[in-house]
Amino acid sequence: MDISSILQGGYQHPLSRQWQSKRQLTKSMLMYPIFITDDPDASQLIPTLPGQSRWGVNKLEGFLGPLVAKGLQSVILFGVPMSCEKDFRGTPADDENGPVILAIKKLRSLFPDLYIACDVCLCEYTDHGHCGVLHKDGTINTEPSVERIAEVALNYARAGAHCVAPSDMMDGRIKYIKRSLIDNGFGNKCTLMSYSAKFASSLYGPFRDAAGSAPSFGNRKCYQLPPAGRGLARRALQRDVVEGADILMVKPAMPYLDIIADAAQIAPDHPLACYQVSGEFAMIHAGAKAGVYSLRDMAFESVDGMLRAGATLILTYFTPDFLEWL
Ligand code: PBG
Ligand code: ZN
Repeated sequence: MDISSILQGGYQHPLSRQWQSKRQLTKSMLMYPIFITDDPDASQLIPTLPGQSRWGVNKLEGFLGPLVAKGLQSVILFGVPMSCEKDFRGTPADDENGPVILAIKKLRSLFPDLYIACDVCLCEYTDHGHCGVLHKDGTINTEPSVERIAEVALNYARAGAHCVAPSDMMDGRIKYIKRSLIDNGFGNKCTLMSYSAKFASSLYGPFRDAAGSAPSFGNRKCYQLPPAGRGLARRALQRDVVEGADILMVKPAMPYLDIIADAAQIAPDHPLACYQVSGEFAMIHAGAKAGVYSLRDMAFESVDGMLRAGATLILTYFTPDFLEWL
């Protein structure tokens, strides 16, 4: 056997196998997506998202306390209004007494060291279920969309969010939000994480169930990116760097590892997030249930791919499991 043929000597031990990775998953890389609803005492299991629930603000201490004790360091909040009046501009999104603003304040006081990010979008709060404000013909009206989204982001920052994360995919919103954060004294108090390369994916189904945010007509293909559009994703990432994003995100994660690698090359000096979305999580659970693999092994393998591609922050519903497993 030639000397140059032998690799196995280098990874024969569990420890030397670990040395083959540039970076390993740590608890600080995990951000846990949670759903907050407007019934303050709710804890409603979400059938399509195994083990995940919609929570009322009164339940947050009991739900998150044990996770914080295990090392949970950050969450991203999604509002799920069940009993409010939705309208054309998503008025309930930043209601002072709505679930997100109440949850930010509650979490800041309960867990002073917990990092609180807020998803910013209108689809959970508009009567049509789209992520922006529409023209009469149902197309996106960019200017008022961006204004409204920036207003919501600012109000989350005012309530105490450490990070605002617009997921709407409207053109120009990063610049507009950054400007309004700066002009209102939050330039140095609130991080802007952009869902920069967010694709029009089939993997958001369970989330839309959970959040009640499916569009009432049409689809999101005129603002979320076409799945085969690698060049467009690169342009979106470049744009958001220029417009002032502090953190970039690629979403979903597993079918888009090439885009994560592109983002790491385009913006090597920014933290890079990826979102292992609801459908990816449900799919991994379904495979495990069908006996295809062990849930734990597959969860780690999925995240190893994201780290290899260059992600430094991972939004995942597996966060409570990883806190247990790590
Ligand atoms: C809202 C939003 C969505 C997700 C995050 N923010 C759904 C969508 O765009 O339809 C998906 C998250 C997931 O599937 O876990 N704009
Ligand atoms: Zn949306």
